[in-house]
Amino acid sequence: MPPIVYLAVDHRMIFQAGNINVFEIYQGGRIVLNELLSLIYRPEKGWDPVPYEHAYQYALASWDTFDASELDEIETIIGGFQGKHVLDLGAGSGQYSVEFARRGAMVTWYDISKTYKKIAENKAKEFNVLDRIHFAPLGYLDEAYRKLQTCYDLVFNHGCFCYSVSEKNFAKVIYDLVRQNGFGYIYTNNSKFRINETSKSFQLRTWLNEKMWLKVGHPHPPRGRVAKLILNYPVKRLWYNFQELDSDRIIFEK
Ligand SMILES: C[S@@+](CC[C@H](N)C(=O)[O-])C[C@H]1O[C@@H](n2cnc3c(N)ncnc32)[C@H](O)[C@@H]1O
Repeated sequence: MPPIVYLAVDHRMIFQAGNINVFEIYQGGRIVLNELLSLIYRPEKGWDPVPYEHAYQYALASWDTFDASELDEIETIIGGFQGKHVLDLGAGSGQYSVEFARRGAMVTWYDISKTYKKIAENKAKEFNVLDRIHFAPLGYLDEAYRKLQTCYDLVFNHGCFCYSVSEKNFAKVIYDLVRQNGFGYIYTNNSKFRINETSKSFQLRTWLNEKMWLKVGHPHPPRGRVAKLILNYPVKRLWYNFQELDSDRIIFEK
């Protein structure tokens, strides 16, 4: 009998081929508990993974410490934001969405949290860019391509790669969401991030993800993994910035 965790692995695979072995599943970067949970907890039914108080405090801090210069380099590489369609994927309290809009882009805000959506909408009003930001229906990161059904000049994924259900699937989702000749930007903490300050459980899950591609919860990806996953697909160029020990930053052109 396969262990119970099989049930949460990609259901299409289970139906097509009943006896996949564990090693293949892990090597393929498939998910275990995460996918099952994502079928049960649905944002369209009012579920929000971000506690209300936390969202407001985090939003306050994010807006206070927001450094718009992070977008300068991207702006140079992609040749300006004016008139570009940008997807802010995992957009949270909306500081990047608003900044893209202020620089002339048409922005789609996408996230799973209804509280962040409210906060971001209020900020868009405050900065007078509500007409340049489309607030997409709430959804999981991994579902974004299926839900949005369109491609963008720039897909911007900042600080939330770890919340994907499956790293491998999510890298493909990001790639698919970028139009031909468009760009993708991913900034993520990696598995070194504050690892000694985290719980034993988080350290174990980080190790399992790093060594066996077994992702339970939200461990950060190991250094270089996100770039490698994107390089599974045809790209014209990929820039990576590994200057910070505990984070990876990549830009790619499709
Ligand atoms: C650390 S915040 C980053 C927000 C924003 N990108 C920024 O840099 O300020 C993580 C974001 O991921 C979102 N998130 C968490 N789990 C998610 C999921 N499964 N699907 C979609 N978004 C998710 C949260 O609601 C939150 O907005």
